Amino acid sequence: MQTVVTGAVSVDTAISADNYSFLQTYIHQESGIVIDPNKSYLLVSRLQPIVKENSLGTLNDLCRLLRATTATPIKRQVIEALTTNETLFFRDMPVFEALQKEVLPAMIKAKQESKRIRIWSAAASSGQEAYSLAMLLLEMGLSGWNLQILGTDLNRQILDKATAGKYLQIEVNRGMPAKYLVKYFTRAGLDWQINDRLRPIVSFQQFDMRSPLRALGKFDLVLCRNVLIYFDLETKKKILKEIRGVMEPGAHLILGTAETTLNIDDAYQRAVFGGTSFYTHT
Ligand SMILES: C[S@@+](CC[C@H](N)C(=O)[O-])C[C@H]1O[C@@H](n2cnc3c(N)ncnc32)[C@H](O)[C@@H]1O
Repeated sequence: MQTVVTGAVSVDTAISADNYSFLQTYIHQESGIVIDPNKSYLLVSRLQPIVKENSLGTLNDLCRLLRATTATPIKRQVIEALTTNETLFFRDMPVFEALQKEVLPAMIKAKQESKRIRIWSAAASSGQEAYSLAMLLLEMGLSGWNLQILGTDLNRQILDKATAGKYLQIEVNRGMPAKYLVKYFTRAGLDWQINDRLRPIVSFQQFDMRSPLRALGKFDLVLCRNVLIYFDLETKKKILKEIRGVMEPGAHLILGTAETTLNIDDAYQRAVFGGTSFYTHT
């Protein structure tokens, strides 16, 4: 039996094989996230704070509670603890350069009549991706256009942060060009708050991307970055197929740098832009 000390309370980190496999199934069912057999350190480090907060002795006690309860707060806490929310402003610069130089200018040209652009940031986490897109669009001088960026995520808690639009100095230091910081943010004590230029363009909604996507409407651009890596092949296939159904003709899909549609959904074609590639379908 292993014991670790967290704050003043010591927590038994042992977990039975039966409970490990219960958690694997449970997390997969509720989020699509696959927990490999050798990831007990991940379960322990993410779930220990919940064990402590709920005055439970061990992870096995937490599993007992999860099996018995119908109460949603603890269930949600467990699922949210297992999501990885790492993100930053302008993550993967070649992606934003390709958008700025090629994809958005072509989209703007094609949309001269409707003057309406809809973008989906699936797995938006704390919102940096959605706000980066909003800044990029606003820099293109689209006054009078109807610009909508929808950010969705499974994790409600992280979406509260996205909606608040308030970031630590260290978060804006990661990837944000200084000229954008002064133009689109205001100081809020030690933090930075998005200003009213960004707010009307970006909205957030809790959404499990394994659900049917039709209700979200159609999009001119979809970013689904750094989330498919957590899913199994069947789930990736289902999501990629659904995404095709919400892409407007000519729309692009952008995945994370470690993700591809290749050998998963061959209805997509790669479109190469400088140092990066996006996906389209006919
Ligand atoms: C690593 S972040 C990616 C953030 C951003 N797209 C980026 O690339 O910087 C992954 C996000 O996927 C979300 N996520 C995990 N499973 C999900 C699901 N089934 N539906 C919607 N979002 C999910 C997590 O909550 C997390 O915020």
